[in-house]
Amino acid sequence: DLPSRITIWEVGARDGLQNESAVVPVEVKLEFLDRLADAGLTTLEATSFVHPKWVPQLADAAELLAGLKKREGVRYPVLVPNERGLDRALAAGVEHIAIFGSATETFAGKNLNRTLDEQFAMFEPVVTRARAEGLDVRGYVSMCFGDPWEGPVAADQVVSVGKRLLDMGCSQLSLGDTIGVATTGQVDALLDGFIAAGTSLDALAVHFHDTYGQALANTVAALRRGVSTVDSSAGGLGGCPYAESATGNLATEDLVWALNGLGIETGADLGKLADTSAWMAQRLGRPSPSRVVQALRG
Ligand code: HMG
Ligand code: MG
Repeated sequence: DLPSRITIWEVGARDGLQNESAVVPVEVKLEFLDRLADAGLTTLEATSFVHPKWVPQLADAAELLAGLKKREGVRYPVLVPNERGLDRALAAGVEHIAIFGSATETFAGKNLNRTLDEQFAMFEPVVTRARAEGLDVRGYVSMCFGDPWEGPVAADQVVSVGKRLLDMGCSQLSLGDTIGVATTGQVDALLDGFIAAGTSLDALAVHFHDTYGQALANTVAALRRGVSTVDSSAGGLGGCPYAESATGNLATEDLVWALNGLGIETGADLGKLADTSAWMAQRLGRPSPSRVVQALRG
């Protein structure tokens, strides 16, 4: 059974722009967010309060938040790895944050400079303090299906990391296929693992990168199981600077095209989205990888 309505968690301004070799000017980022809101998206992941040396592309996070004209009914979550990041996010008036854990030991080291176990000690005070301040906290789990250094990742390992983040107080878990290697059978197996561990599918979101062209198929597989929040990126921008084989996210336009066909409501205006991605592609100096953007605006 498919849901009648889903929430698109738009990550273009964060996952998309963190991976661009050029730093995009803050005014362009602000216009991007504004256009995405105009296109009817209601969850816009805006930036990250990570170490500016680790992700220079998002070093302007405070400036971005200061310039952001927040819209009624739109949430602007940001990534926060640690207490220093939380201090900065609170000072910027953020209301929704996301911590981001790794399912594997190697990627925890590469992305967070922590062991798998140490990452929880880093997140715990962030979640506790954020909740006490009335913030909503999402938890990401990266490398849910495969890891460039460790190979295939066992579903049990992902479930165990995810449960720890939920038990800490995260309101939602986003399951990340960071390097885009998953296929639909693995998606079913991982969701089975969470169900067996007592997690409600309402608490789960999916986050697919499109390296092997499977992101949309994997997303629809998850929707058929009852997941109703999907991460995607306008124009298919995206990737992770700490996982070289990571490519762009599922394109929001590809998602909306498929969901329009299925009669599933998203609130998104496909024409405005494609215009926005064509505009951004021009700023970045290369065409959008999204097939739907190419078909509509190529
Ligand atoms: P570290 O070097 O271990 O940091 O990095 P530390 O705790 O040792 O602190 C060292 C210094 O950095 C200190 O300054 C801190 O104050 C400062 P000093 O006292 O020496 O002067 N510092 C900070 N400054 C500003 N903001 C901060 C901050 N934290 C410490 N937040 C750290 C650890 C976690 C900070 C680092 O590894 C980091 O920033 N990593 C972020 C990597 C990242 O953003 N990756 C991309 C996002 S994840 C992703 O894309 C996957 C996802 O899309 C899902 C999927 O696809 O799977 C979400
Ligand atoms: Mg990602």
